[in-house]
Amino acid sequence: MARITASVYTSHVPAIGAALDLGKAQEPYWQPVFAGYDYGKQWIKEQKPDVIFLVYNDHATAFSLDCIPTFAIGTAAEFQPADEGWGPRPVPVVKGHPELAAHIAQSVIQDDFDLTIVNKMDVDHGLTVPLSLMFGEQHPQQGAWPCAVIPFAVNVVQYPVPSGRRCFQLGQAIRRAVESFSGDLNVQIWGTGGMSHQLQGPRAGLINREWDNAFLDQLIADPAELAQLPHIDYVREAGSEGIELVMWLIARGAMADVAGGPAPEVKQRFYHVPASNTAVGHLILENPR
Ligand code: DHB
Ligand code: FE
Repeated sequence: MARITASVYTSHVPAIGAALDLGKAQEPYWQPVFAGYDYGKQWIKEQKPDVIFLVYNDHATAFSLDCIPTFAIGTAAEFQPADEGWGPRPVPVVKGHPELAAHIAQSVIQDDFDLTIVNKMDVDHGLTVPLSLMFGEQHPQQGAWPCAVIPFAVNVVQYPVPSGRRCFQLGQAIRRAVESFSGDLNVQIWGTGGMSHQLQGPRAGLINREWDNAFLDQLIADPAELAQLPHIDYVREAGSEGIELVMWLIARGAMADVAGGPAPEVKQRFYHVPASNTAVGHLILENPR
């Protein structure tokens, strides 16, 4: 059967992609950011996932105010890096896993979570920056990222956004779906976006280290309680874009302990301020074998 072996959590700051693409990763400003991912780059080479179920948010790139799906699963064979205004990032095409994605859509929708099915979609920095952080620089000429990726887009841009509680429950349904797939696959689930940041208005530039670190503590130790946190608390404490953090609860909900299994091992925990306007957080949780 397919199995979720680990979850990875990371911020997705677009300037991180630009720093990599423009050869600035070794500059003193960026070096400490990338250093936090050295462990993860080595770890993922050893883990060799077959598929990453990548929970992220689209930033009015593939979607717009014309159509706002709350939860959208990418079922296509491939997804092109999006042009966000200065040309597509020079990274490989994202290869999907249509069989597993279609199976998850079937299972999760029948489990009462109403997903939008997307057969054509470009993917923006919300998806490509986490891949760059974990796999390092990859050039389009290499053809593809090291494994298949199922993009799963969550609306955290236009209100109303889904609650942390809904996201946590959805993660549990995704785990059931993956485990009922007949193929033998090593699947990781990633929760991305965050941590504290606010890009607009009088509070632009807001960072809340204490709150972010308490979020990481509780995400590890008591995600069911964390899932009860109302969205207004994210916005008040972590800024208007801090709401991206609800996506981390989808990945956390898919871990074995939530369904009565053993607690995950914390393989990496990293926190750094600043990267662009954002506090960068990163966690790796592994399900014991
Ligand atoms: C920044 C952070 C984001 O999450 C985003 O989507 C865009 C910009 C920033 O820090 O500048
Ligand atoms: Fe963002």
